[in-house]
Amino acid sequence: MKTSHNRLQRYSPLDRANHWTMAMAFLLLALSGLAFFHPAFFFLTHTLGGPVWARILHPFIGVVLVLLFYAMAVRHVRNNLLGGNDVQWMRQIGDVLNNRDDKLPEIGKYNPGQKLVYWALVVSIAVLLISGVIMWRPWFAGYFPIPLIRFASLLHALSAFVAIVTIVVHIYAALWVKGSVRAMTRGWVTRAWARHHHGLWAREKEENERRERH
Ligand code: HEM
Repeated sequence: MKTSHNRLQRYSPLDRANHWTMAMAFLLLALSGLAFFHPAFFFLTHTLGGPVWARILHPFIGVVLVLLFYAMAVRHVRNNLLGGNDVQWMRQIGDVLNNRDDKLPEIGKYNPGQKLVYWALVVSIAVLLISGVIMWRPWFAGYFPIPLIRFASLLHALSAFVAIVTIVVHIYAALWVKGSVRAMTRGWVTRAWARHHHGLWAREKEENERRERH
């Protein structure tokens, strides 16, 4: 059992509850959305209790995802702005992909790949919300002309594609970087993990700890 002086807190319980509720909402939305997208995926309507319930629930779950996602996104915006050694890190993408971590510059709480995932989701989820509301029968679609509703449905499919591909990359990266999933399940990372993957963040956290002690 590791002692707590070997750990750094990365996510609060609220952050984690938010994240995993959001992940479940996203999965239900992706599966029921694919069911509406092509008849080959019709059987996926069963994830929400059949075609009628899937059609009713999909937009409401979408609103839940939007609320949870932006509640989290707002709290993390500062850490997702480009800065520090990010440009140099991107120049060395070859070292990143070939696991030559020792050659990489120190970075903050998130690396540029994580920041790209963050911004791709900020944009694609906003487009999903706006286009979804325009198509939402019986509540809102009646206020919009049919050509706009058709255009909205095209945008909805395109932004859903971007969001799903982004999340597949997000999950792959979370599993690829050993020790990351624990950050989002238990809330903490080891100091060694933090120094290795996010050196600037680790130093900032440790400096804050020292200041609090004195
Ligand atoms: C099974 C699915 C998922 C897994 C395994 C997963 C895993 C993780 C992990 C391990 C982290 C922490 C990374 C770190 O601190 O370095 C994280 C952060 C995050 N995740 Fe997920 N995630 C999943 C689904 C989702 C979904 C569906 C969304 C959004 C729709 C999402 C949005 C985020 C955001 C916004 C962060 C904070 C990082 C940032 O602000 O850049 N995740 N996730």
